[in-house]
Amino acid sequence: MNMEAKKVPSHPRTAIVTGAARGIGLETATRLVRDGYRVALVDRDPQVKDSAAALGAESAVAVAVDVAAAEAPLQVAEAVRGWAPPSVLVNNAGISPKVNGRSNGLLQIEQAEWDLVMNVNLYAAFRMCQQFIPGMRDMGWGRIVNVASLAGRSKSIVAGATYMASKAALLGLSRSIASQFGPDGITCNSVAPGRVDTLMGAAGGTGQNTDYAAQIPVGRIGKAHEVAAAILYLASEDAAFVNGAVIDINGGFFMS
Ligand SMILES: NC(=O)c1ccc[n+]([C@@H]2O[C@H](COP(=O)([O-])OP(=O)(O)OC[C@H]3O[C@@H](n4cnc5c(N)ncnc54)[C@H](O)[C@@H]3O)[C@@H](O)[C@H]2O)c1
Repeated sequence: MNMEAKKVPSHPRTAIVTGAARGIGLETATRLVRDGYRVALVDRDPQVKDSAAALGAESAVAVAVDVAAAEAPLQVAEAVRGWAPPSVLVNNAGISPKVNGRSNGLLQIEQAEWDLVMNVNLYAAFRMCQQFIPGMRDMGWGRIVNVASLAGRSKSIVAGATYMASKAALLGLSRSIASQFGPDGITCNSVAPGRVDTLMGAAGGTGQNTDYAAQIPVGRIGKAHEVAAAILYLASEDAAFVNGAVIDINGGFFMS
């Protein structure tokens, strides 16, 4: 255990962002590239190839995989071989199943939905952390940012039980990693967005978001770049003393 100030890896550093074909993940990957990172954009949507191409072949690589697949972390590691070992990992891929724009009630949830949501929102992050923490530990520097949700922090007016449970568990995973690997120069933090204007945030239709916005003190739902900005901060050297924290990004809908 080295309690000295940790060495900051020199550029170009490597970052991994899951769920980066669009939305919060793409906004995060774009900002990391702008900050001089090489970024692996991981997504099951083939659109990820265009998203990465738009950022430039020197700076971005697409990894078109389902993060829920057990082999996904190895495929990501393979894709960035030859780059600096990854020092930033953003676990952002997530799903929130809807039926006609609404989450299933507890009594309607089938085992398959539970397993799918846990696999994508929680187990995939766990496996990515297991894959990339050893390299960060060797460097003595790492940043893990997990994209949780307001729904993992408090009650939700839109999310279902599977989603809420997965995001609350992701916060627990984050705190465990923060405790265990802080001494190795690795921080692990989370962001907990409220309603954000992405494809996921549009699932309930504009009427639902208008009603939602009326209950948010700032009077609107959030934008992907507003979440990405917080992720970039948590991934930065400036955030070295922030560990195991959750940044709520919800316009004041939930205040803790
Ligand atoms: N939009 C919101 O209102 C909101 C609120 C709170 C938290 N979040 C969280 O923010 C994160 C990003 O969501 P977003 O709003 O940008 O939604 P989005 O649906 O626009 O983007 C999610 C991305 O994740 C990818 N993805 C989903 N499942 C995947 C899998 N199994 N393997 C690989 N990629 C997968 C999708 O293809 C998509 O590109 C999610 O974790 C979500 O739970 C979103």
